[in-house]
Amino acid sequence: MVSDLTSTTMIDDPADGWFPESVAATYDGPGGANRPEVVTPAVDLLESLADGPALEFAAGTGRIAAPLAARGVPVSGIELSRAMAARIAGKPGGDQVHVTIGDMTATRVPGRFSLVYLVFNTIGNVTTQDGQVDVFRNAAAHLRPGGLFLVEVGVPNLRRLPPGQDTVPFAISPGYVGFDQYDVVTQQFTSNHVTVSPDGQGRFRRIPFRYVWPAELDLMARLAGMRLRHRWGGWDRSEFTADSTKHVSVWALTES
Ligand SMILES: C[S@@+](CC[C@H](N)C(=O)[O-])C[C@H]1O[C@@H](n2cnc3c(N)ncnc32)[C@H](O)[C@@H]1O
Repeated sequence: MVSDLTSTTMIDDPADGWFPESVAATYDGPGGANRPEVVTPAVDLLESLADGPALEFAAGTGRIAAPLAARGVPVSGIELSRAMAARIAGKPGGDQVHVTIGDMTATRVPGRFSLVYLVFNTIGNVTTQDGQVDVFRNAAAHLRPGGLFLVEVGVPNLRRLPPGQDTVPFAISPGYVGFDQYDVVTQQFTSNHVTVSPDGQGRFRRIPFRYVWPAELDLMARLAGMRLRHRWGGWDRSEFTADSTKHVSVWALTES
């Protein structure tokens, strides 16, 4: 069920933040994170952890929420961008996802959930420490006792930053250059994407983030009454090691 989200406009709405119509229109394109080999392991793990209704913070286009709902897990979502959320209902399972337009730092939806999850580095879209703490508090407020909060996020790539350098390229191919630029004093970084089409038309997209270490996330969880239950190096429950480039962490609500 999606209320009040059926009409999309081709004009970018500033209220949609960094994910307006022009981004939503290509978000699920081929070769991206919508590939089954990316989506299926995530949905497998989320389904195994959900012991009742689940809530996705920043549900986007339903890349994960829709297939999880298609497996029979009751799924709700909170999403800032109407343009992104408008895509959910069109996916298999998406008509079962109840989406609320709002900010995951503060928006409340009815019900208590067995699992709240926030994937694909999106904790970093909240660019202040206070805001990230609010995300954890809001997750806890939606959990039933013993419920789980799962976050998938990259490990800050600072080991690739030599002294005096602030930029790390992460992809260079014909027609595309991606690089991250770090401010190690403020924990801010920008993710930068330069795309040049075959006819020479260029596009530059720059998205601000706040990077955050696993231990800082553990402290945010404790502030919200949660304790670390699992930390894996990926959706396959692989071991989290010094060389892991990302982690999938799960905290359980121990105080409410
Ligand atoms: C990288 S996309 C991830 C979407 C989806 N979770 C996925 O895995 O495909 C980030 C999404 O977070 C949403 N978002 C960013 N900040 C948000 C906030 N404070 N509250 C709710 N949604 C937010 C954006 O609008 C965008 O749809």
